[in-house]
This record gives sequence, C-alpha cells and structure tokens, in this order.
Amino acid sequence: MIYQNLKMSAVAASLLISTATFAQKPNVAKEFKYAAEQTGFMLKQLEANTDPKLVSPRTFENGKFKIVSSTDWTSGFFPGELWFLYEQTKDPKWLEQAKIYTAKIEKEQYNKGTHDLGFIIYCSFGNGYKLTKDPAYKQIIINAAKSLSTRFNPKTGVIKSWDHNKELWVNPVIIDNMMNLELLFEATKLSGDSSFYKIAVSHADHTMKNHFRADYSSYHVVDYDPETGVVIKKTTHQGYSNESAWARGQAWGLYGFTLCYRETHDKKYLEHAQRIARFIFSNPTMPKDLIPYWDYNDPTIPNTSRDVSAAAITASALYELSGYAKNKDYVVKANTILNNLAANYKNPLNSNGGFILLHSTGHRPAKSEIDVPINYADYYYLEALLRSKK
Ligand code: GLY
Repeated sequence: MIYQNLKMSAVAASLLISTATFAQKPNVAKEFKYAAEQTGFMLKQLEANTDPKLVSPRTFENGKFKIVSSTDWTSGFFPGELWFLYEQTKDPKWLEQAKIYTAKIEKEQYNKGTHDLGFIIYCSFGNGYKLTKDPAYKQIIINAAKSLSTRFNPKTGVIKSWDHNKELWVNPVIIDNMMNLELLFEATKLSGDSSFYKIAVSHADHTMKNHFRADYSSYHVVDYDPETGVVIKKTTHQGYSNESAWARGQAWGLYGFTLCYRETHDKKYLEHAQRIARFIFSNPTMPKDLIPYWDYNDPTIPNTSRDVSAAAITASALYELSGYAKNKDYVVKANTILNNLAANYKNPLNSNGGFILLHSTGHRPAKSEIDVPINYADYYYLEALLRSKK
C-alpha cells in the first residue's frame, strides 16, 4: 500500500511538474528566433513569384505555396507578422520588409466590397502605425474605416459581411466581423470622427444579441432583413452544422468582445467575453493541450482536424482579457496554448513555404485548407507571444 501510494504521488508530482512547466511563460526570444528563420526562408520562396498581383503568402496546401492578391481577406497578416518581427527584434531589416509588404496592399483602403478591411488594413497598416507613427499610414487607416462604414446599414444596425452567395442570404453578418471593429475604434481616435465608434458599438450590440445561444456559443452567420432589421435566419458557412460551435468563430467572438471592452470600458462586453471563454474551456471536446478541434460539435472527434488558428487567436485574446478580468487562469491557459504550439505544432525549419505553425483548418465543409499551415495562425501566435511579455 505504502509503495502504491508512493508510486501514485510520484505520478501526481510529475503531472504537477508538467502542468507547471506548461503554465510558465513561453520562451518568446527563442520562438521569435525560430519565426525569424522561417520568415527568412519564406521571403526567399517569395522571390520566385513572378505575378505582381500575388503579394501575400497565405498557406501551403497540397504541396503548393499559395500567395494571394491584396483583395484576399488574409492579405494583411503577412505584413503584420513582419511588423511583429520588427517590434520584437528592432532589426531594421524587418522594418524594411514590413514596409515593402504593407505597401503592396495599400489600394485596399478604398475597397468597399468586403467587411474584411479590419483584417486587411489594421493587421498591416495598424501595426505599422503603432510602431512608426507614419502619417501616411494614419490616413490609410482612416480611409479604410470610411470604406468599411459604407457597409453599415442603420436599419439593421450592423455592417454587412459578404456580398457573395446572394441565393443563400440577403444581409449576412458573420461572427468574424467582430474583428473588423478594431479598425473603426482606431479611426475615431485618429480622426476625432465619432461615427466610426458608433457603428462599431451598434454592430457589437446587435451581434451580442443575435449571434449567441444560451450557452454563449455563437452562430457563424446571421442574416438580417435589410429593410426591417429582423433576423431572417441563423446558420453556418464554415462550421459543421447550423447549430454547431465552429472553433475559430468562438475565438473571433472572444477576441472581438475583449477589444470592445478595451475601447469602450462597457462592462457588458467584458462579461460577454468571459462567458465565451467559459464556453470554450468547459467544452467536453477540448483536448488537454487546449488546441481545439475545428468544430466543437464534429461527431467524429477525435478523428478529425484541429484548428491551430483558433488556439492562437484565443491565446492572444486571453492575455488581454486577463488584465481586464483580473483572472490569472486566463494567463495560465494562454501560456499552456503557446507552450504546446511551440512544442508540438511547429512547422520544421525551411519547409512548407516557411510558415511557422502547422495544423490549422480553413474551410472544412468546402474541403479547403484542412490541416495546413495558414498565415492567420502565425499572425496571432506572434501577437500572443508579444502579449505574453506584458
Ligand atoms: N474570416 C474567415 C475565417 O475565419 O475563415
């Protein structure tokens, strides 16, 4: 008996040690060194590209390095990563590359055909402005906010997300759109024009009311009648089913409401972000390493793909949320995610186009980008690493 007890406490002790190790702060310097090497390799891959329209690396799928044009919703992430590399290292070579790749997507400031301008312009020019205070960047952020605002309909109180698939919806709003509000909040601060702020608050309030279920998981797509503002239907596009909880959608919501609290100090957003966090971390399908499967309700779990991007977005949001909620457990969870990503999900050096992390799921129902590296996973991973230092 005594021996057994001893054995058990040895196992318990080793579990405690491994949990403690993984709850420790990530090794930011080491992970950025790795990211810098990979990104150097990626820049070399980009030299082989002869199409000037293709400006931003997105993924490596089916053996192919995929570079997208500035109109793609992910075009701002690679420039953003270059800004993060500059922020961490202060090496002028990253400043130079960040400027070059940011400039390549400049024309999108006038794009009124997508809600993704927050992702496109804020992740690139927004980070660039924070670090350089370049007045040209400031104007581009304001111009982009003006373009995004044209998609706001006062009758619905929301920004229309997509113009495509008109046979499926009239005025669709996706949970991802919460991320684009950061651009609007920033534009009000930079311009003094409060209309951007008001649009962001209206969009967040309607999303809080209409996108969430009783358990605080969210629908992916909510369709509004553009004349009356009445919700027509709640559905999915990238999730397992209309009633399922698509993992990246939950992460966008967590990050989005956290940033709304930062910008407004309205406690309802803080409480909402905490409820989303509770849904994510109490979900019975969440693996021990906190890297979720692509949809919390995929019945084939554990025989399906993870979504590393959802984990990286969540980690980044949790560092910020922990400061507002005064909850150290969020930091422990974020550290655990980052340490596990660094230990088990990294792309081997000089391979697969030079992306940093493997195992994201882009759009599983469309059989697209399943279990691949992807630029937004890398972007939020680097952002989370930087936030872990603060
Ligand atoms: N915003 C599109 C996605 O998360 O896949």
